[in-house]
Amino acid sequence: MGKISTVLRHDVPLEDKNTLHLNAVAKNFYKIHKFGELKMVHKFYRQLYKEDKQIKLLVIGEGSNIVLANQDINALVVCPALKGFYIERQNKDEVFVNCSAGEKWRDFVIKCCQNGWSGLENLAGIYGTVGAAPVQNIGAYGEQVGDWIYKLKTYNVKTGKYKVYTAEKCRFAYRSSVFKTKHPFEMITSVTFRLNKHFILNDSYAALAAKFRDVPDYQITPLNVAKAVTEIRNSKLPDVNVLGNAGSFFKNPLVSKERYEELKKKYPDISAFDDDKGVKISAGWLIEKCGFKGKRKGNVGMYEKQALVLVNYGGATYQEVLSYAEDVKKAVFDTFNIELEAEPKIIE
Ligand code: EPU
Repeated sequence: MGKISTVLRHDVPLEDKNTLHLNAVAKNFYKIHKFGELKMVHKFYRQLYKEDKQIKLLVIGEGSNIVLANQDINALVVCPALKGFYIERQNKDEVFVNCSAGEKWRDFVIKCCQNGWSGLENLAGIYGTVGAAPVQNIGAYGEQVGDWIYKLKTYNVKTGKYKVYTAEKCRFAYRSSVFKTKHPFEMITSVTFRLNKHFILNDSYAALAAKFRDVPDYQITPLNVAKAVTEIRNSKLPDVNVLGNAGSFFKNPLVSKERYEELKKKYPDISAFDDDKGVKISAGWLIEKCGFKGKRKGNVGMYEKQALVLVNYGGATYQEVLSYAEDVKKAVFDTFNIELEAEPKIIE
């Protein structure tokens, strides 16, 4: 654990605090190690607010789903390094596990699997913290975290008040929740997950099903699924410590069934999957088709093994990232008449 400081730090470089490794600087920065320090964050916010009524809050966990779209971040940047998890209650089928916001998501998933609690195993290996996971409703391999969240607690740095949100109130949707666009002064402090004691494999994702095709049932455990998922991820996605990135840079766009049929006629190899509201087209396919897979411009490019991941080859500026993303969006729009939407949160 780092040293606990009771002072607000100023002009703190954020390059190692965001996985795209953009070199923005936080005007004000505070790392919280204990729940008791939240009151201090409230106090700091009030002091800053007196000087600047526009002052924003930016909560950074591992910074794995943000684009710092400015050099100077004029905000109170808070890093909630709150740790620990415990069982709130349980019955013969389910366990309700409360986890503090600052735990690393990938470590928490493994701990759940080791305890035989099932639900999160398909979400193994994802960067970020437990507190950040609900914000964009992280999802992978046929699962979304919102389906496993029972409730969560937030702290409002402006009012100094806690609030509890049931899963329903979080309004989880594809890579979205009420926290992505609303409640700018609330930070998630802990999340309660409702997990299964009895394991059911979700092998709806073909590459995962393939891993277990010839494996006897007794060897298919949450932990083995988590390991398989991590292997699949590692084979496609770049390691943030080697190549800066924020995971998928765009969402998979939703189109109507009719529009999909038209596209399919023109592009028989189009990659898409059914969704409740229509058909989701694989943005990676669209981007690859436009020739951006592995295409580098300056210090940025779309990853050679997964065209949906924008990577920083080192030293990229936010202008380069945004301008490259615009090039990609424009090419996809000009070719397919489909508008791509950024997936990470863009911090102006
Ligand atoms: N594809 C291509 N070219 C590419 C990449 C993908 O043609 O370069 C096509 C292929 O047909 C492939 C299909 O797209 O089968 C889907 O690709 P993949 O399974 O890699 O998944 P994705 O749709 O690109 C989504 C999530 C990922 C998640 C994976 C696996 C979004 C925005 N991304 O990617 O989440 O890991 O599914 O479930 O929904 C993230 O959100 O940061 C993230 C990495």
